[in-house]
Amino acid sequence: MAIERLVEPTLSSGNDSEEEKIEISLRPTSFSEYIGQEHLKNNLRLAIDAVKKRNDGSSLDHVLLYGPPGLGKTTMAGVIAHELGASLRVTSGPAIERAGDLASILTNLKDGDVLFIDEIHRLRRAVEEVLYSAMEDYKLDIVIGKGPAARSVRLDLPHFTVIGATTRTGSLAGPLRDRFGIIHRLEYYKESEIEQIINRTARILSTKILPEATELLATRSRLTPRIANRIFKRVRDYADVNGDGIIDREVATRSLELMEIDYLGLDPADRNMLRLMYENYGERPVGLTTIAALTGDEASTIEDFYEPYLMQMGLLARTPKGRVVTEKGRKHLQRTS
Ligand code: ADE
Repeated sequence: MAIERLVEPTLSSGNDSEEEKIEISLRPTSFSEYIGQEHLKNNLRLAIDAVKKRNDGSSLDHVLLYGPPGLGKTTMAGVIAHELGASLRVTSGPAIERAGDLASILTNLKDGDVLFIDEIHRLRRAVEEVLYSAMEDYKLDIVIGKGPAARSVRLDLPHFTVIGATTRTGSLAGPLRDRFGIIHRLEYYKESEIEQIINRTARILSTKILPEATELLATRSRLTPRIANRIFKRVRDYADVNGDGIIDREVATRSLELMEIDYLGLDPADRNMLRLMYENYGERPVGLTTIAALTGDEASTIEDFYEPYLMQMGLLARTPKGRVVTEKGRKHLQRTS
């Protein structure tokens, strides 16, 4: 199953699509440019200022960021590195296949560098174990040779900072989690913050957008900057092709209709999932694997990508016996069918 969802909060798998290039160009690089997540920014600012003030060669504590995709974990890692005046090295759990791959990344770091590991919950066990001692005491244990001649060597590593990102802390091994001194959840943005992000994007992309159109797009963006920017670009295309390039309320409305994004920001795939659950189970709870069988998605896709926003909006609830469509969810289905 691979319907491309406009509201898909992850990036596409190609690494240098036009879409990604624009997205990267829109990323803020400093705390002052970064809109929202005030609590997280205040905590990080303090920790960074303390490291800078001490100036004794110690590095920032390892940072674990968790929460739904698209809320700015990678962007925040870039901001942290920038604010520290450090270099950022980016990798991901699934990309580090063997312990040797991690060893080569670690031995190439310099004091104070930041290593960002996206999807850190997907690290392999053998790799994770090497990471433990590297994070804990900046040592790397490697085995040289094989059989009776094999010997173990301990290498000193530079004092670096790991920033780990994950959609769920629950699937992170306890010992790994314990090695992070700073653990924070990224929250959904306020609508007013999404409006500021849309206006910032319009400024950077030299597009005129009227306030009522900004407001409308903000209500449809699932409180997620990545989706706001993606919708913005599609609406900008629509305005360029069907109008004079200015985004007003009418252009925004017609273009959202074309994308089939409803007034809560749900797309056809979300509505389809809610409808299938309701038609087959009514008000009774449904297990995750059953929902996956109904929609044809992976259970993890439902858990990571569909559910968080539907729950945030109160359309879906989790109970010990499974997921249920709420009263608000049922009303939404009636209104949009
Ligand atoms: N672009 C994407 N996320 C952003 C944020 N949080 N602040 C400013 N610009 C952004």
